[in-house]
Amino acid sequence: EKGGWSSFMRKEVSEQPEAVANTLLGRVVDGQVHIPELESFGDDELRAIHRITVIACGTAAYAGMVAKYAIEQWARVPVEVELSHEFRYREPVLDEGTLVISISQSGETMDTLMAVKYAREMGARTISICNTQGATIPRESDAVVYTHAGPEVAVASTKAFVAQIAALYLFGLHLARVRGTLSETELGKQLAELQSVPEKIRTVLGEAEHVGELAHWMADTRSVLFLGRHVGYPIALEGALKLKELAYIHAEGFAAGELKHGPIALIEPGQPVFVIVPSPRGSATLHPKVVSNIQEIRARGARVIAIAEEGDAAVLPFADEVLRIPLAAPLFEPLLAVVPLQIFAMELAQAKGLDVDQPRNLAKSVTVE
Ligand code: M6R
Repeated sequence: EKGGWSSFMRKEVSEQPEAVANTLLGRVVDGQVHIPELESFGDDELRAIHRITVIACGTAAYAGMVAKYAIEQWARVPVEVELSHEFRYREPVLDEGTLVISISQSGETMDTLMAVKYAREMGARTISICNTQGATIPRESDAVVYTHAGPEVAVASTKAFVAQIAALYLFGLHLARVRGTLSETELGKQLAELQSVPEKIRTVLGEAEHVGELAHWMADTRSVLFLGRHVGYPIALEGALKLKELAYIHAEGFAAGELKHGPIALIEPGQPVFVIVPSPRGSATLHPKVVSNIQEIRARGARVIAIAEEGDAAVLPFADEVLRIPLAAPLFEPLLAVVPLQIFAMELAQAKGLDVDQPRNLAKSVTVE
């Protein structure tokens, strides 16, 4: 039940700290990742994997894209992320050295289910990341790592998304330990970062009022762009998806590095652009590049809303609005930066008088093709 909240979505957005905390609960023991559900995957098997293919749709696919950066960095295994419906209708190269990870909140998405079945037929081993106990996709997989976000009722996926990233990060750190690609100290540091996420999300939620005001004055906006680099790129895609599905506004997410390859032509005076700015401490190479992207679009009249780390002053001269997130290591920023984008889409939809829990034309679980 909604329990006093005006919508399920608002309730679920506010439950994100617990969604992450519960997904980690009992899975970090004495500074080590402990996932009993993966016991059927022996260490030798995890060492033999030479490639990971992630299959999912929609928001779940963006969680996979975020995790690609982390798993490749930590475990040094190539990761590709593919939409389930694209994967199953081509002839993907799969063998026993390929691990297929499916991500699905409902565990019932038809295209993802069919893709998992196909992968198994081709001899790949499969792990399901799922939020619904006993759903079909986990039953069709070799192993399942459940996210413990609790039931997600609103059509727009929010708390399941952050929980999916948390579960995938746990898996990535487990893989890194087994494969010996991260030192104990480094592993401990990353786990501590992961465990500090719930509290940081709480901080972001506490500062959400400003996002609401922003949404209100943008209620007549016809198009919004989102830019990000590295892990900020899938967050840009997710911010755009949320706005499309909830507020029915045309929205596009771009990799900021692509600007000059086309999208910058879209910038005209007044065009709102959200930019996810990487940490100046954590991403010394990327931060100045994103700041210069902001300057480029600002010079063409864009109205820039920057999502930037607390204390990052470099964005101030160029951004029209700055939404702050707490300090975090770069790979953990997506778990924080996505929150104001979810709230923005929700508030804008509400300002337009729309039903945020049940947007038009959409179903919570897509069980048909
Ligand atoms: O249940 P699933 O995670 O498999 O669902 C995947 C997508 O249908 C879902 O994430 C969809 O994109 C959401 N409506 C996004 O908010």
